[in-house]
Amino acid sequence: MTETQLIDGKAFAEKLLSQVAADVAQLKEKTGKTPGLAVVIVGEDPASQVYVRNKVEKTKAVGMNSVHHVLPAETNQADLLALVETLNRDDGVNGILVQLPLPKQIDEQAVINAISPDKDVDGFHVINAGRLATGQEALVACTPTGCMMLLKDRLGSLAGKEAVVIGRSNIVGKPMAALLLAESCTVTIAHSKTKDLPQVCRRADILVAAVGRPEMVKGDWIKPGAVVIDVGVNRIPAEGGKTKLVGDVATKEVMGVAQAITPVPGGVGPMTIACLLFNTLKATKMQWKL
Ligand code: GUN
Repeated sequence: MTETQLIDGKAFAEKLLSQVAADVAQLKEKTGKTPGLAVVIVGEDPASQVYVRNKVEKTKAVGMNSVHHVLPAETNQADLLALVETLNRDDGVNGILVQLPLPKQIDEQAVINAISPDKDVDGFHVINAGRLATGQEALVACTPTGCMMLLKDRLGSLAGKEAVVIGRSNIVGKPMAALLLAESCTVTIAHSKTKDLPQVCRRADILVAAVGRPEMVKGDWIKPGAVVIDVGVNRIPAEGGKTKLVGDVATKEVMGVAQAITPVPGGVGPMTIACLLFNTLKATKMQWKL
């Protein structure tokens, strides 16, 4: 039986954050200016509030300026677009993140596409998605960027590997597939209409689960020796009326089969925030032509 290793995303993210912090300090020294990240939240979704609080905290921790806008749930699209436009014009703001999901009266893609592509640190703007798809320099979505860092750290070259991505969202599945393809993997994107998903997963040297269904991926779906990246963050009932976080993969069943797996929590999650600040640094350097 294989000894399956847990990939320590938390430790990797801390290392990345300290590199970003060192770079920020150098930039300040050199230019006399401080990079700034604006985070906008609309409404009171509790999960979003936790994510945003964490983003604000880590922004300050790496020495960047944090601008935090909290708008009421009934905000209309015109008002949100006006705020985005103000942030686009603000020289003190190098990155803009509008937390998703947005309330239903607002067209998410319209808001994303109103963000200046140069400040689009989420990498969700159609220009950045298009640049990624065509192999051009781009700001790339944070979660897939973090997943790729963990995969390359573990495997080195990914060329020729069979990669299966479960989930086709614009936030994770599609950019993840594009990044794997750019590293010369043979990529399959599976989704809710895929026939015989377990059999598709069994061919994966690299399996990325990004569906948002608790412990959906079972142990016997895993090719022995595969590296499994679990992007899911699902809160489920636990003993004593409490709740707990689980991923999209039944981790216990995978132990002894996979080469390595990212745990939930402590795997991909911390990488997402670290990559947001990595992207903000990258955006700042591009804007300042450094
Ligand atoms: N909601 C869930 N994930 C994300 C993310 O990566 N960025 C934004 N803006 N909203 C999200």
